[in-house]
Amino acid sequence: MKDVVCLAIETSCDETSMSIIKNGSEEIATVVFTQIDIHKKFGGVVPEIASRSHIESITIVLDELFEKAKMTIDDIDIIGVTYGPGLIGSLLIGLQAAKTTAMLTGKPLIPVHHIAGHIYANNLENRLQFPLIALVVSGGHTELIYMKEDYSFERIGGTLDDAVGEAYDKVAKILGLDYPGGPLVDALSIKGKDTYDLPYPLDDKSYNFSFSGIKSAVVNIVHNEKQRKKEIRVEDMCTSFQNRVVEVITKKTMRALKEYKVKNLIIAGGVAANNGLRNKFATLCKEEKINLSIPKIKYCTDNAAMIGAAAYYAYKKGIVADLELNAMATDTLYKY
Ligand code: KG4
Ligand code: ZN
Repeated sequence: MKDVVCLAIETSCDETSMSIIKNGSEEIATVVFTQIDIHKKFGGVVPEIASRSHIESITIVLDELFEKAKMTIDDIDIIGVTYGPGLIGSLLIGLQAAKTTAMLTGKPLIPVHHIAGHIYANNLENRLQFPLIALVVSGGHTELIYMKEDYSFERIGGTLDDAVGEAYDKVAKILGLDYPGGPLVDALSIKGKDTYDLPYPLDDKSYNFSFSGIKSAVVNIVHNEKQRKKEIRVEDMCTSFQNRVVEVITKKTMRALKEYKVKNLIIAGGVAANNGLRNKFATLCKEEKINLSIPKIKYCTDNAAMIGAAAYYAYKKGIVADLELNAMATDTLYKY
């Protein structure tokens, strides 16, 4: 079969990223312009600032990408773009760039769901093995998905409130740590002790998650200690929080593997970089003889390479959009 080279565009949050990916697995070049430093002083992503920054950087990133790849638009076969979910103003910038390029060149426009992108990040290193369970854990999502074959998604559970990365970032903020706080909480948790009495987040029979309760428990403890003029032991709080979160996520995921009789687990999204989660899954999967796949850290956080990988499999399934394609802030339907 002829090679399919994809120009992929991802602007769903605070990263302007473009990639050129061959056949859904071979990364030719990627450029990521991250806005983290711009948003740091606000303690989180400011949507309006994010979309303005995407406008400023989008054509620069595109030029840099072709220069890096030593290619031109003539070498591209398909254009993959994240249409959602994400920040609407941010999504629209990437989508407009993709639609304009598709219109000018007549090349197929492939709409990619952001979660599908996170899942296919794994395909950049090893070909996905089916059937599989995918756990997508990021700043915007906590989802458990069953896939019987390529580009077939059955959502079996997800968060009812905050995404796990969001909870990490909020807990970090309460503890006076920088944004994004997830990696900092993770690093500090190694140094602390599990001494705080935090609740297990939605430790029930469902495959859903809820992190607002444990986040509120941290807020209450921090406020109470402040009122009593007592110091909060930040490292111990990080350990206690991380232990509860890792315990519930790993427990539900391992149960899903058993119930669905699946031997392949992939983990994706920014929180897949979490050491507690990686270590616990590594141990459990070894015990249960599950093939575990976690992408390199650079493919865990938002990037266009993963969108290029997913776009190839969407294209093979005949998923092509027209220029009416719109951005969607929330979309769990996987209709594309
Ligand atoms: O996938 P991602 O780059 O963006 C979204 O689609 O949301 O994920 C970013 C999230 C942030 O909330 C960040 O704090 C979290 O991933 N994160 C971590 C770690 N590294 C990144 N959370 C916990 N432990 C980590 N090591
Ligand atoms: Zn993401």
